[in-house]
Amino acid sequence: MALIGTDILKAAAILKQNALVAIPTETVYGLAGNALNADAVTKIFETKNRPSFDPLIVHIHQIDEVTKYTPQFHPTLAKLAEAFWPGPLTVLVPRREIIPDLVCSGLPQVALRVPAHPLTLALLKSIDFPLAAPSANPFGYISPTMPQHVAAQLGDKIDYILDGGPCRVGIESSIVGMEDDELCMYRLGGISKEEIEQVAGQQVLIKSQVQEKVLAPGQLSSHYAPDKKMILGDIAYWLANTDPKEVGILSFSKIYDEVEESRQIQLSVKEDLREAAQNLFAALRILDNMPVTTILAEPLPDIGLGRAINDRLKRAAVGKAD
Ligand code: TXA
Ligand code: MG
Repeated sequence: MALIGTDILKAAAILKQNALVAIPTETVYGLAGNALNADAVTKIFETKNRPSFDPLIVHIHQIDEVTKYTPQFHPTLAKLAEAFWPGPLTVLVPRREIIPDLVCSGLPQVALRVPAHPLTLALLKSIDFPLAAPSANPFGYISPTMPQHVAAQLGDKIDYILDGGPCRVGIESSIVGMEDDELCMYRLGGISKEEIEQVAGQQVLIKSQVQEKVLAPGQLSSHYAPDKKMILGDIAYWLANTDPKEVGILSFSKIYDEVEESRQIQLSVKEDLREAAQNLFAALRILDNMPVTTILAEPLPDIGLGRAINDRLKRAAVGKAD
């Protein structure tokens, strides 16, 4: 079983041997390995059971390191990185050869980000390589926002989980890139479209619709999915059409009288989208472990962070691919 602790030296020692460590970030926990070492990267794919066509984000310590991994940092992306790093923003840039093919699934670009967590920043500073880290969950399942979530699912496959407490943001980073001079967003996440547009001074083209043909493989429709059947819609309508004893509820703030309170989770009683994002994945896990057959969830207001939350809810409701 993996040890859970706050020993950065231990984490660094394991990583230097090209083995894996789970690391905290402000978004979700990552399953980290040396991004410049093909063996370590292979272990990440194996441990997560992740298809090799789904590329990994490379975590760096500070913005100055970007040019080591790309010959070309578009000024708009540089501006965004200046504004939001360390933070939940990932930029797609052309990659240099030092990054193994496997990290990028053979794609021409590499995804880079500086995470905003003091433990992980200290860890990155103490080693001389960047860390490839996908979310530390089995492929397709709900992302972990607490060390215990990682231990429950990958605990028998890794040696160490660096304990940074619960994740402050709770959903993954927003992924942006340039197509000519067009600023595109490939994954909705911790920084909203509105915030990005304001800093960039240009419109963002969203390229991450759930139904659309996949552009980035991690954008598979079914993702972040509980094992239970999940329905996303008008909860009151679905309650009238299902047995209330069989369901668990995930609402923004409401309580539904038809269902026992212990089977209901409110993402934010005061309807705060940040708080809702923070609670989302842990709530899905709790509901997935309740003695119910179906999870009923409702979409949140489709603005700011609400858009990223709704994206995760939609993918969770599509269900597992297998
Ligand atoms: O918040 C986050 O970004 C977390 C924490 C751990 O940093 N990481 C994360 O990684 O969410 P992951 O593996 O679950 O999502 C990575 C996604 C891929 O599925 C893909 O959509 C995109 O990032 N991506 C990564 N590298 C890419 C590349 N070279 N080209 C295109 N898309 C890429
Ligand atoms: Mg993931």
